[in-house]
Amino acid sequence: MNKKVIALLLITAMLMASITGCGSSSLGDADLSKMKVGVCIYEFSDNFMTLFREELEDYLIDQGFSRENIIIVDAANNQETQTEQIDKFIADKVDVLIVNPVNTSFAETITNKAVKARIPLVYINREPDAAEEERWQDNGWNVTYVGNDARQSGTFQGEMIIELGLETVDLNGDGVIQYIMVEGDPESNATRYRTEYSVKALTDAGFQVECLSNQVGNWQQDQAQQIVADALEQYGNDIEVVFCNNDAMALGALQSIEAAGRTVGTDIFLVGVDALSEALENILAGKMTGTVFNDHITQSHMAADAAITFINGGTNAYYIDSGYVKVTSDNVQKILDMVK
Ligand code: BGC
Repeated sequence: MNKKVIALLLITAMLMASITGCGSSSLGDADLSKMKVGVCIYEFSDNFMTLFREELEDYLIDQGFSRENIIIVDAANNQETQTEQIDKFIADKVDVLIVNPVNTSFAETITNKAVKARIPLVYINREPDAAEEERWQDNGWNVTYVGNDARQSGTFQGEMIIELGLETVDLNGDGVIQYIMVEGDPESNATRYRTEYSVKALTDAGFQVECLSNQVGNWQQDQAQQIVADALEQYGNDIEVVFCNNDAMALGALQSIEAAGRTVGTDIFLVGVDALSEALENILAGKMTGTVFNDHITQSHMAADAAITFINGGTNAYYIDSGYVKVTSDNVQKILDMVK
């Protein structure tokens, strides 16, 4: 074969790899200690994202990156701030971007900036919508999402209530499950899906439900504490189940449940998502019904691995999922041992 044919074959192979975009391949072997990573976090004070970013940084260092080349910035829940941070990372020519978007509907703009600058992009935790993900695939771009399908966590929350049985949960015996819902940040797809799918699991199983109150707690413990205190004052013993879109809010809910003299597992049921160690301790002590393990360890490792694959000239699947795990008193010790 002459040189031109070989070159053509090589280009075709590279094009095919970027078009299919599935699986992952590692072509080069870059010196990671010289590579710059720009990490944008939507909000440093978020409990779950704190665990995630600390694990991400440690794992990147374990893989060979230098601490000074891993720059992690806080958007303080402001999309404008985050956009400026991304522009700065691009101007500084980072080798890869890892972005936890403030506002997932802004993903198209973020993607366009990264693609234009030819910087690979790994979205974490907050999933852009399906149309945006298709665009990466259709164009063969070096962009991916690493996280979970939030629908599954909602379904698991509903299933934990179903598994207790109607006779246990239906405390007032009216054949209907009365619940309150404490929602996360409305900008996050996880909020929408967890809210919808937790209740859908109940109705799919033939349970009748009644929503007494549905409030936004923005993922925050203190906001949830207030919401649940107010709901308990208004609806009292009518509340049978408290669904919280995450554990930070479930911890706030628990403070108000205890302050109102109610007892989880006896006269009220409480579920969250994340498996924060404090929530796991509460499950162990019988003070929370259950949670759903949102595996920040696997997710942060997968995000770093995807970034390394891009740096090495390889491709990643457009959607990388770590899967959720249901956590009740049956398996709580095992999960606690993993996260501690
Ligand atoms: C977690 C929340 C967190 C949010 C941040 C969710 O997956 O369950 O605890 O606040 O991500 O985007």
